[in-house]
Amino acid sequence: MSSLTLDVSGRGRGSSGALGHRFGDSARAWVDRAGAEGRAAYERGLARSRTAEGLFPSREDDLREAQETVRALQARNRARWWERCLSGVYADYAAAAVETLTPDQDPGGRVSGWLESGSRTLLIAGENSRGKTWSAFAVGNQAAAVAPLPMWVVAWNSADLDAALRPSSPNCDKVMEHASECDLLILDDLGAEKVTEWTLEQLYRIVDARVRNRRRLVVTTNLPYDERGFSGSTAPAGPVTPNLVGRYGHRITERLIHEATMVRVTGPSWRRPVPF
Ligand SMILES: Nc1ncnc2c1ncn2[C@@H]1O[C@H](COP(=O)(O)OP(=O)(O)OP(=O)(O)O)[C@@H](O)[C@H]1O
Ligand SMILES: [Mg+2]
Repeated sequence: MSSLTLDVSGRGRGSSGALGHRFGDSARAWVDRAGAEGRAAYERGLARSRTAEGLFPSREDDLREAQETVRALQARNRARWWERCLSGVYADYAAAAVETLTPDQDPGGRVSGWLESGSRTLLIAGENSRGKTWSAFAVGNQAAAVAPLPMWVVAWNSADLDAALRPSSPNCDKVMEHASECDLLILDDLGAEKVTEWTLEQLYRIVDARVRNRRRLVVTTNLPYDERGFSGSTAPAGPVTPNLVGRYGHRITERLIHEATMVRVTGPSWRRPVPF
């Protein structure tokens, strides 16, 4: 019995042709998982193979038809996921595209070329309003347009993610599952959220799961960093600004910078007052 590598939930193992979880169960079981449309495709294939033209049921063709249907459903689900992420506070970033990045935002093509690189994490740092979120969403839009099967992309503002993960929030388990398992997670504005032992533990669980499974992660942050994430900056006569490791500790930081591409976005601020 063939085993298909499909999953209409939107889960998957990246965009590089991998089609998702490999189900070892029977064809009937995985077709059941495909929902009504997948089941209908399967039944259609079976019925056709039982007609006079075929003396033997062509099971491989049946499976292929069901597979194509499920893949189309999966692509649609992923597109819907990304549309949801692009609503609300991130609606303006629907237009972000790697082609719009300035040289300051895409030094050496490291942002626009990241998806095709072997790097697992893209860490985008820089001061306010330099286009960090824009750059991250440019990559998100790129990933959500991968053909024939878009990547399953999920974007969260870090503070909002913490709120959504609280046990009192509806679907908090699903939020954790999706943040850990989607093909590409965008974690926006890491460092702006309030850090507690509990939030550190949630971040660790997500980052660790993603590193272990070599899943893609894009992080934007205002925190100062160097290639090892260790540098702190001292504001004049002020307290030391904690950097990644100062704020999240070695356990999380080491995982964040593992196989990471680090980009520091420079250039002028994109937010300006209206000229009078
Ligand atoms: N290359 C670009 N083309 C068009 N608009 C851009 C570009 N880069 C940034 N912007 C716009 O500039 C504004 C600031 O960009 P963005 O929100 O990405 O900055 P940021 O570095 O994430 O800021 P913050 O640190 O406050 O989160 C946004 O309105 C964004 O749409
Ligand atoms: Mg931002």
